[in-house]
Amino acid sequence: AAFPLRALRAEIVHFLADPAERGADALQHFADGLLVLRDGRVAECGPAADLLATLPADTPVEDLRGRMILPGFVDTHVHYAQTDIIASHGEQLLAWLEKYTFPAERRFADPAHAAEVAGFFCDELLRNGTTTAMAFATVHPASVDALFEAAQARRMRLIAGKVLMDRNCPDFLRDTAESGERESRALIERWHGRERLLYAVTPRFAPTSTPAQMDTAGRLFAEYPGLYLQSHVAENRGEVAWVAELHPEARSYLDVYERHGQLGPRSVYAHCIWLDDIDRARMAATGSAMSFCPTSNLFLGSGLFDLERAHALGVRVGLGTDVGGGTSFSMLATLNEAYKVLQLNGQNLSAERAFYLATLGGARSLYLDERIGSFAPGREADFIVLDPAATPLLERRLARAETLSERLFALMMLGDDRCIAETHVLGERRWVRSGKLKGHIQAK
Ligand code: GUN
Ligand code: ZN
Repeated sequence: AAFPLRALRAEIVHFLADPAERGADALQHFADGLLVLRDGRVAECGPAADLLATLPADTPVEDLRGRMILPGFVDTHVHYAQTDIIASHGEQLLAWLEKYTFPAERRFADPAHAAEVAGFFCDELLRNGTTTAMAFATVHPASVDALFEAAQARRMRLIAGKVLMDRNCPDFLRDTAESGERESRALIERWHGRERLLYAVTPRFAPTSTPAQMDTAGRLFAEYPGLYLQSHVAENRGEVAWVAELHPEARSYLDVYERHGQLGPRSVYAHCIWLDDIDRARMAATGSAMSFCPTSNLFLGSGLFDLERAHALGVRVGLGTDVGGGTSFSMLATLNEAYKVLQLNGQNLSAERAFYLATLGGARSLYLDERIGSFAPGREADFIVLDPAATPLLERRLARAETLSERLFALMMLGDDRCIAETHVLGERRWVRSGKLKGHIQAK
């Protein structure tokens, strides 16, 4: 056949639903499982004993027993141009933007710099087991080209866009309502829907766009089928107060976006901390999504996300690293901090819910769950191979864990990039942590 089957044998965990709704039925766990692939997609996933009996006898089976296969992680909010200012000391949001972020983003006027950082960024995602990301570029159109080119070379799924920013920012990062729209259109025509790449209209946040630019962003979002929109909302109390001054007509910070046509399916808002239930209900009703970015929210001292209220009101939620406000590219480290944020809020994050949010939940928040996020037949074969003995402490703790829940919880609290033994994109190995193939593997 043109597309022969092949299979990987290991412990397998993936989700078919939200554990907060479906409990134990949400998750499929095969202690000795088989993931069967054809042409970069999932053909079947189930118990090895059953599937090995039905597969053609000559199907190659790779033996990864002792390891755990999960769907690739989905990072729903990250800034590739902030890679080099991760871990910059001492400020909260608005001062941090002025002192570190804007100067770092200025350098992306140079396409060679953009290309170098984009390559590192995509490799770092893969090294951390992230196979799909929704990312901010900078105001420079060539910074978007550089990022899409880097993702395309690795066959990764990526949603990205050019930052729109025409006020309250340095001159060297400022576009206009007119140039921002024209440049966004050209990028949409060039990239949106090309292979695995999707475009997001990217107004940075309400304070840095004029009402005229906010209108153009909303119009673009409505005009092209399948287009995304990404922004920030209600992250920091000083920011919220500033938006209230800039927009006395609006009921709330979120309402500014709604008035400009920026809520709807495939709009994704980072942070969503200082919202009320009217805002949350608007997000749910419009099909907008929240990106919960715990490492950033703690690092920048922004506040504590309320997952319980988001869930109660039926809002789609994914997880974001928000590098460089966030402090790790690792979704495992992000789950660790998510757990602690919710503890401080008197809420409890189960390990199952955590891994759901990092995989299928993220995919759902991006309306991509028919393509990625699980091992349902036909899904794109983006997956990771976790090494549960990656560190001596993890190995020791897992030896004392009795249930899958306990083991997943130890992995998210003690694990990080060291646990990602392999990352596969569309069925091909792109990252191997150790052994003969060690390192990143170029796409053919
Ligand atoms: N709000 C506006 N811009 C940014 C940014 O770059 N990072 C974060 N965390 N919040 C923002
Ligand atoms: Zn951000």
